[in-house]
Amino acid sequence: MNILILGSGGREHAFALKLSESSKVKQLFVAPGNAGTNKIAKNIKVDLSDFDAVKKTVLDNNIKMVVVGPEVPLVEGIHDFFLADVDLKNIPVIGPKKDGALLEGSKDFSKQFMQKHGVPTARYQSFTKENLEAGFTFLETLEPPYVLKADGLAAGKGVLILNSLEEAKIELQDMVSNEKFGKASATVVIEEFLKGIELSVFVLTDGKSYKILPSAKDYKRIGEGDVGLNTGGMGAISPVPFADEAFLNKVEELVVKPTIAGLQKDGIDYRGFIFIGLMNNNGNPSVVEYNVRMGDPETEAVLPRITSDLFDLFEGVAHQNLHKKSFSVTDKTAATIMLVSGGYPEAYQKNKEIKGFENIKESIIFHAGTTTLDDKVVTNGGRVMAVTSFGDTIEEALGKTYRSIDKIHFDQMNYRKDIGFDLV
Ligand code: AMP
Ligand code: GLY
Repeated sequence: MNILILGSGGREHAFALKLSESSKVKQLFVAPGNAGTNKIAKNIKVDLSDFDAVKKTVLDNNIKMVVVGPEVPLVEGIHDFFLADVDLKNIPVIGPKKDGALLEGSKDFSKQFMQKHGVPTARYQSFTKENLEAGFTFLETLEPPYVLKADGLAAGKGVLILNSLEEAKIELQDMVSNEKFGKASATVVIEEFLKGIELSVFVLTDGKSYKILPSAKDYKRIGEGDVGLNTGGMGAISPVPFADEAFLNKVEELVVKPTIAGLQKDGIDYRGFIFIGLMNNNGNPSVVEYNVRMGDPETEAVLPRITSDLFDLFEGVAHQNLHKKSFSVTDKTAATIMLVSGGYPEAYQKNKEIKGFENIKESIIFHAGTTTLDDKVVTNGGRVMAVTSFGDTIEEALGKTYRSIDKIHFDQMNYRKDIGFDLV
């Protein structure tokens, strides 16, 4: 079978690598892909918001399954587009339709969903410029720090955590009245600050049953010790030591089951990944957010730990017989570190030649923001490459990753040297 993966990051390289191991996968295509995916698949230049161009790619290349990496095409309705098209309607899409994608596309929707279906989450209310005064009053009922979230997609930048009430009121006004995050912040969710330690749990569902994939911890801040600006993610560790069996059982009972049942009750036929961002507060899970896709760089730590055929699970999603499928996971720990361009997550330069990554044996190299220029591999984004290694312990896995990173070079390469610091 020919498969098309949509996206261009380390996550999509990890999907491509894992699917390339399946005997049932004939040819892989990645749109638009990066310099790494081009080695194991065929890259096709497509704008992912141009569904007609995606359709042409699918028909021209006899594609029989589409795996959607990022959230934007899902929120824009790519799965619905396939179902409404006579030529595409029988080609399975791994990723929810628009109604399910709202779990990520609207924070207000996802909070309502959680409340309705009894999924533990922080107390909240939503506001627009029409009821700004009520927003100020609600803020006054909360303890600092104050959490403000733009309702819509804001490329990971729409969440503000503020220490003073004064500041929170100013930012709320800026978000709803001045469209600080564009239309995404016309509605703002204000919620209670959750204490605890964060982790992510990944679920794959065919709308009827589900599989819980390995959990991971992501490091979002640019600076060591979790300080500075938010990024897409600077590294990941899987599994998460504090997510023991007792905790994961609670997550399954209190979060995963009501989420899947809630989707069914609401008539949302969801086929794809649910990425559940969780706070663990003294062993009790509370949902911080849902995403409707896999995480990046979490995927680069999670997928390599799956030792069975990932395509088999995707077939289960496509044919709604996921309950008949099984998968296996190595006990080893995977440690992933992102190499980023100097300046990221603010302005950075591109087209820096990347050297030394080709003959690394101890680690898996996932390309993210890379491209090819005159036969050289050069940087093409803020997050450039993810380096993943296995170990019996986090320290061993990290040791290999750092040794591999020592061999890689590009001008102004930056990475965090403390990934996993809070876990060992
Ligand atoms: P989100 O986009 O909703 O995941 O928010 C981004 C980040 O903000 C999360 O990964 C958390 O680190 C933090 N965050 C969001 N909501 C809360 C909350 N209610 N309490 C504490 N931290 C939060
Ligand atoms: N690494 C966090 C995300 O993918 O949203």
